[in-house]
Amino acid sequence: MNFEHIPNSMLAPNLASTDPLSLIMHKSAEIKQEKLFHTDEIYWNAEHYKLDHSHYFKALPPSIQQDILKSLNHKSLSLSYYIEKFGLNYGAKMVLGAESTEEKSLYALFSSDEVKHRMSLERFLQSDVIPNIDFHPMLRALDLCLNEGGKSSIIFTIQVVLEGFGLFHYGNLKESCQNEHLKNTFAAILKDEVLHHGMGVTLMQRMALDKETKKQVVEFTSVFVRALIQAEWVLHTLKEHSGGLTQEQEKKFKQDINWPQQIHLRIEKIKTLIAKVGFQGLVQELEEKNIFK
Ligand SMILES: [Fe+2]
Ligand SMILES: [Fe+2]
Repeated sequence: MNFEHIPNSMLAPNLASTDPLSLIMHKSAEIKQEKLFHTDEIYWNAEHYKLDHSHYFKALPPSIQQDILKSLNHKSLSLSYYIEKFGLNYGAKMVLGAESTEEKSLYALFSSDEVKHRMSLERFLQSDVIPNIDFHPMLRALDLCLNEGGKSSIIFTIQVVLEGFGLFHYGNLKESCQNEHLKNTFAAILKDEVLHHGMGVTLMQRMALDKETKKQVVEFTSVFVRALIQAEWVLHTLKEHSGGLTQEQEKKFKQDINWPQQIHLRIEKIKTLIAKVGFQGLVQELEEKNIFK
């Protein structure tokens, strides 16, 4: 079977909420089409984005601070929305690529979970989701893996590294969320994600990697690590709403929010995930290629 060139489903068009298919989808998933927020509600405040440590942010007028938080909240939700929506074609590709009944079944359940995650999060979108996948480098990395990856390299990058990292990321979103319904939604999503990640780890531990797969694993993992390191959307959002920062202000901002420490934490997390499936050599290879710098 040709396991390559599967397009992602992140930008699949949405039907109207009144379309019969949409109504059946909600009934089948047992998720109501309801909004669970009040106007202009902030789900994650300045502390979540470490902006409470920034002198620059704190000196901005309150209305601009509010706009920045709203924009960041919307980006955080949009990112989760697209990652969950990505699960549609990912699951489809993996069902076809799986051999055992159990593996095929697990991927069908996996897809169904990701659909429910997306639908649960949609209830908190205060405006239409960002209409492209270029606002966060992670989304292009997902597209690349699904489109070009062989089976083991995408299980490794998506289920071991990305979903493993996602547990940490969603855990943070849950902990600091100010909306009780959304907090519970993330708690429910996390229970499923633990299983998705666990399944990836189990599958990887059984696979022997050939030379070509190892090469692809190194390539994709490098793309993911770079995407995680390059994700400076807090700074970009601040720039968008405040009229821009000088180089000096940008440097000070990164010091204030302890940017090097944030990056260090992300890198350590990724290294732990890679080591979990016994790929010690991979960490070393990535270090030699200066991927973690
Ligand atoms: Fe999910
Ligand atoms: Fe998942």
